[in-house]
Amino acid sequence: MIHIMNASGVPRLAPSLLAADFSHLADAVCAIESRSGAFVHIDVMDGVFVPEISFGEPVLRSLRPLTKLPFDVHLMVAQPETHVESFAAAGADYITFHAEAAIHQHRTVHLIHQMGKKAGIAIVPSTPVSQLAEILPFVDIVLVMTVNPGFSSQKMIMRCTEKIRDLAALRAQNHYVYLISADGGINAKTIASVTDAGVDIAVSGSAFFSGELNGNASVLS
Ligand code: DX5
Ligand code: ZN
Repeated sequence: MIHIMNASGVPRLAPSLLAADFSHLADAVCAIESRSGAFVHIDVMDGVFVPEISFGEPVLRSLRPLTKLPFDVHLMVAQPETHVESFAAAGADYITFHAEAAIHQHRTVHLIHQMGKKAGIAIVPSTPVSQLAEILPFVDIVLVMTVNPGFSSQKMIMRCTEKIRDLAALRAQNHYVYLISADGGINAKTIASVTDAGVDIAVSGSAFFSGELNGNASVLS
């Protein structure tokens, strides 16, 4: 049984390592664990699906022994199905891939489940929820991007929060079980917009890792 909200009814926090100091990633993982993080959000970028390249399986493997927190891997890559097995072996708990990058979504979800992992589907701001109709019954997470993927520190596109409401309504109507995650531009000013919309997981990069971590974590969790 997946526990959707934490005790206070606010979304669970998934700080993104993309905004951490890459020369101190171990410290960043410890900071997430000690400051109410529920997931370690790991943004994998391939320079094809998105312009930049971030990091891959070897980094996950190195970080895996440092924490028991689930690794929430967000694949911003082309042909995500070719990476599922290696990220599963490297220690991912949730593997989320983009609908825009995968024709055979059902097969990829099945592969993730075969590897014993939770499967997520992500959509960029220009992709409507309606495009997910046939995959929603099978996924464990739906990740709504509230910025265009590829970079941290962007401004939230407010219109995307409507998709969170739509996904919550579809879940209730159809008895689906997915968690709803929002990713991009979430900070002290914008978190209420995703919380009010009914999000379960709030991903935060720059607002968590920039400046004073205790203060950041307290306004986000
Ligand atoms: C963007 C990534 C996000 C990003 C969030 O492509 O998927 O997870 O790190 O960063 P902020 O919270 O700074 O927008
Ligand atoms: Zn992400």
